[in-house]
Amino acid sequence: MKSRQIGSCLDEATRLLSDAGIVGARKEARLLMGHWLNRDPAQLFGPQDEEVGAPESFFDLVNRRVSREPLSHLVGRREFWSLEFEVSDNVLDPRPDSEVLIETGLSHWPNQLDSFSVLDLGTGSGCLLLSLLKNRPYAIGVGVDVSGAALEIARRNAARIVPDGRAQFLKADWGSSISQPFDLVVVNPPYIPSDRISELDAEVANFEPLLALDGGFDGLDAYRRIAQDLARLTTSTGMILLEIGSGQSEQVTSILEKSGLVVECIKNDLAGRNRCLVAHN
Ligand SMILES: C[S@@+](CC[C@H](N)C(=O)[O-])C[C@H]1O[C@@H](n2cnc3c(N)ncnc32)[C@H](O)[C@@H]1O
Repeated sequence: MKSRQIGSCLDEATRLLSDAGIVGARKEARLLMGHWLNRDPAQLFGPQDEEVGAPESFFDLVNRRVSREPLSHLVGRREFWSLEFEVSDNVLDPRPDSEVLIETGLSHWPNQLDSFSVLDLGTGSGCLLLSLLKNRPYAIGVGVDVSGAALEIARRNAARIVPDGRAQFLKADWGSSISQPFDLVVVNPPYIPSDRISELDAEVANFEPLLALDGGFDGLDAYRRIAQDLARLTTSTGMILLEIGSGQSEQVTSILEKSGLVVECIKNDLAGRNRCLVAHN
């Protein structure tokens, strides 16, 4: 393909994305173009008569998006708690829903000088651990994941976001290899019932790692596993913040209580849904 004006590429990309049912097609076209040109998408408003060469590689990206590959995977990053995280198909995309865990953790230790330890089980991109440590410069923490590919991404995110060595990462099966207790344990486990995964948006069902989604037949497998270890992984005055899926609050509360933990309250996400169990020993 010959060179072509940016504006004409944006118009065609918008049409392709819109025809594929992508909401906010123009915005996504601009974000993809910004990524492709390595330019701030904010510079791509208004008429764009500049010519660019080899636009077919831009349309490769557009066509991947038409096939429902998440925008975050195509541009390689996703914002969470106003921080930018590298993401790929090896980690769950950080979700705004999970920000309630950060809000709750930071309000429990409200001062910049507060010093505490954090354990993040199933760290994925590292978004929970790193957002907490970034905002509390005297906190330290460990992120655990069973996926080595996820940990590579978490380590790269740590090197950019908390580069002073306060975040460590460990490949392990939940808390099995951890012996010391932490002041704060955060967990966002896979909690989608196996047979519901195919009903999720194609971006999630086809492109996010099964390991991050699949909670077994009733969605609660990981909670049952983790609950056995939470008491010994949390200090006597410590706090547990556990993300839950829609309609799971009663069952997960019961799982925690059977393990001798006390569920103090349930926090809602931005959409007003029960999202985070706050528990302790
Ligand atoms: C729902 S994702 C959460 C990722 C990240 N904490 C977040 O909030 O975006 C669950 C994570 O748990 C990890 N995981 C699944 N099974 C695990 C296991 N047995 N031990 C440790 N981590 C596990 C997955 O690899 C995935 O990164």
